Amino acid sequence: MAKIGRKVAVPLLDLAAQHEPLREELLVAIERVISSQRFILGPEVSALEGEIAQRLGVAHAIGCASGSDALLLALMALEIGPGDEVITTPYTFFATASAIVRLGARPVFVDIDPLTYNIDPGAIEAAITKRTRAIIPVHLFGQCAEMEPILKICARYGLHVIEDAAQAIGAEDRGRRAGAIGSIGCFSFYPTKNLGGMGDGGMVVTDDEALARRLRMLRAHGAEDKYRHKYVGINSRLDELQAAILRVKLKHLDEWTAKRRRNAERYRELFSEAELLDRIGLPYVREGAYHVFNQYVIRVPGGRDAVVAALRNHDVGVEIYYPVPLHLQECFGALRYHEGAFPEAEKAARETLALPIYAELTAEQQAYVVQQIRAALADD
Ligand SMILES: Cc1ncc(COP(=O)(O)O)c(C=O)c1O
Repeated sequence: MAKIGRKVAVPLLDLAAQHEPLREELLVAIERVISSQRFILGPEVSALEGEIAQRLGVAHAIGCASGSDALLLALMALEIGPGDEVITTPYTFFATASAIVRLGARPVFVDIDPLTYNIDPGAIEAAITKRTRAIIPVHLFGQCAEMEPILKICARYGLHVIEDAAQAIGAEDRGRRAGAIGSIGCFSFYPTKNLGGMGDGGMVVTDDEALARRLRMLRAHGAEDKYRHKYVGINSRLDELQAAILRVKLKHLDEWTAKRRRNAERYRELFSEAELLDRIGLPYVREGAYHVFNQYVIRVPGGRDAVVAALRNHDVGVEIYYPVPLHLQECFGALRYHEGAFPEAEKAARETLALPIYAELTAEQQAYVVQQIRAALADD
């Protein structure tokens, strides 16, 4: 174990450490946009769309203003609306379900697998009704939901699959790339994501030509040509500065992902050396899954809050993703879910916390984090 006598500040994410080595490259990209005087949906956005499509092996990538809008656009393109139901997980970021509700459709939640925190494929079929139109599996924390059984169910019942891959760019499920597995994939470029911009941004990807055409129109007020509106769309465009910045960062994504995975491996070794494996549930990597660790989430039954307080007291950034599952959110009261409806999601909300996992994290910082957790649990 690394020698650690002094206090090390460990932020949850250190974007300065990521951006500083790229400063010159980023400034060149920003200059290019200033010289072009093109600011919205120009050559940088088109180039980024092409680069992402190629990486994922999909025919079409459509930039938009955020991951939240990517989900909204995907549902709009599939004409999901009032009277429709969409099955998803209650243990995810709010945007997954709010997109469904904003279109007047109903989110139907299904409990999660307690090991991966992703939607439990075995519980999906019981939630299907004649109103069900689509399933939104979320690839939570950077690991794909188990797609094989989900695809089979969708094929059997004629449902669309919209992947919420906001946290999972670069992840794979049995060699298939996150976002490129279902009918439509949704990505976020929020700064904390593995590929993050310097502001908001998102992308929708699909192999379906007709859907791609509709998505391109929907992101620009449904216009087929300037001032001729085929649909009532939204204003959700990606800007050139974000695209130019993301293109610089995209070149480093594989290296950053490899470092996140190395850090995850290192935590496993450190927790094992600290003899904490019987107190803490480490991230479970499903067979066939390539986990990109957007978050490194551990489970501490009975001791989560003490560990969070101790880490914060010792200058370690931690976060709880997510303390309130979506079926218990006040704004979804009309859906009439109650406490106890999804016990695994509720348990995860009580027991988990995310530790720093970013690429630039050092072995010394990780050792410090584990040392603080061991001390907190010893005091328990
Ligand atoms: C699972 C999930 N879905 C959707 C989103 C929404 O993305 P954005 O913040 O870019 O709107 C996020 C990220 O914040 C997310 O983590």
